[in-house]
Amino acid sequence: MSENPTSESMSSNVVWHAGGVSRSDREDRLGQRAGTVWFTGLSGSGKSTVAVEVERRLADAGRLVYRLDGDNLRHGLNGDLGFSEADRTENIRRTGEVCRLLVDAGVIVLASFVSPFRADRDQVRRMHESASMPFLEAYVRVPLEVAEARDPKGLYARARAGEIKGFTGIDQPYEEPVDPELVVDTSESSVEEAAVRVIDRLRELGLVPGG
Ligand code: ADX
Repeated sequence: MSENPTSESMSSNVVWHAGGVSRSDREDRLGQRAGTVWFTGLSGSGKSTVAVEVERRLADAGRLVYRLDGDNLRHGLNGDLGFSEADRTENIRRTGEVCRLLVDAGVIVLASFVSPFRADRDQVRRMHESASMPFLEAYVRVPLEVAEARDPKGLYARARAGEIKGFTGIDQPYEEPVDPELVVDTSESSVEEAAVRVIDRLRELGLVPGG
């Protein structure tokens, strides 16, 4: 990966140390093109479920693919962050940097994060564009009522009861993507259909072979 032009680094007196193996070398060895699919949407929209299905299908087809999930990263790397606007922004920034590292390693990354703020998602997009890395924003759209009725973790009920403050869609905003590469609605189509649409889009972008 070339020097990082997007991050405002607080580290002074550090010099980028280039390696001798390039991303395209790695991609050639893996027989794939790397890139990030960024799933965004309300909690309970089906982001993670669709990402799991895409991951399984791509892995079965021999692709090197890795999933980054908001709930999971908050158990470790992002475990020091809460749900304030600033913490969510940092959550997405850090994750964007992890995406770039994985893409540089030749991996197809599936990131599923509520990522409610457009500016944060756009920052991750720019991080990718500045490194000439494919980036596909997939908006997993469902009406709030559907996500709330599913309520797989019981969090909407707790937010409505005032036990959780700042819950996305209830008392914090979700800013819909303006021009995402893909929109899938899991209230209208099955998880399998949504996964196929994501993979078709990856095929169009040349990340997975056609046919
Ligand atoms: S993000 O907003 O910073 O992108 P992230 O995707 O990492 O969020 O985590 C969202 C998950 O945390 C949700 O699926 C839900 O399970 C849980 N969660 C807990 N509190 C909140 C909250 N206040 N708003 C949204 N999700 C929350």
